[in-house]
Amino acid sequence: MRLVNKFQQSLFTEEVRDFYPKGSKRQEIEKKFKNIIHEELNLGSLVSYVGNKKVPFLRIYRYKEAFSFHLVRKFLKRLQAGIEDYVFDPFSGLGTTLFTSMICNIPSIGIDKLPFAYFISKTLPLFLQLKENELKEIWFSLKAKLHESEPAEIATDVPIMQVAFKEDILLTLRKLKTSIDSLSFPYCDIFRFIFFSIFLRSSSLKGRS
Ligand SMILES: C[S@@+](CC[C@H](N)C(=O)[O-])C[C@H]1O[C@@H](n2cnc3c(N)ncnc32)[C@H](O)[C@@H]1O
Repeated sequence: MRLVNKFQQSLFTEEVRDFYPKGSKRQEIEKKFKNIIHEELNLGSLVSYVGNKKVPFLRIYRYKEAFSFHLVRKFLKRLQAGIEDYVFDPFSGLGTTLFTSMICNIPSIGIDKLPFAYFISKTLPLFLQLKENELKEIWFSLKAKLHESEPAEIATDVPIMQVAFKEDILLTLRKLKTSIDSLSFPYCDIFRFIFFSIFLRSSSLKGRS
């Protein structure tokens, strides 16, 4: 059976517009921009972060609200954006739009209300400064000294951490945090980024989000 997203298909019909409370801001905005908005359902598969699964760097941190690289690139091409333009993303999230603009040589700027999203999006471009095998070498030296590291004073007072992680895994993560904090910039931020990306995957809550 083929599933059809009826809601999306009829987004601007009267029937769905009634879905929003009468006089609401949402209804007002949709009405205002109705004439310049159209739907392209064939872009559906490109929209979400799933499209980043094979894209270097963007695939590391799975930010579920992210757009995909391919969608952003398609729009930059369609709008013929170039180096003389400026991309502004007021909801920049993981930074897919900013990162893709940078790859396409287009200046960009973004805002996000989540400090974490800000951190992720400003750290992504740092990966491009790395030399071949540099991360691997740092990782091997961190790993060799991990057992000597003091566990960072985090997570011990947060009850869900005890449920989310097996004791030995949590201890290793806390030691890893100390080791990462001792690195110089940009390696500390690059490893923090990687640390966050493995955090959920190493928890027993994975798959529940
Ligand atoms: C769909 S995601 C953005 C995806 C992003 N444009 C990209 O290229 O991957 C939406 C983001 O908007 C942010 N957001 C929501 N309300 C906001 C607000 N009032 N001001 C700034 N950011 C906001 C959320 O934190 C979330 O990261």
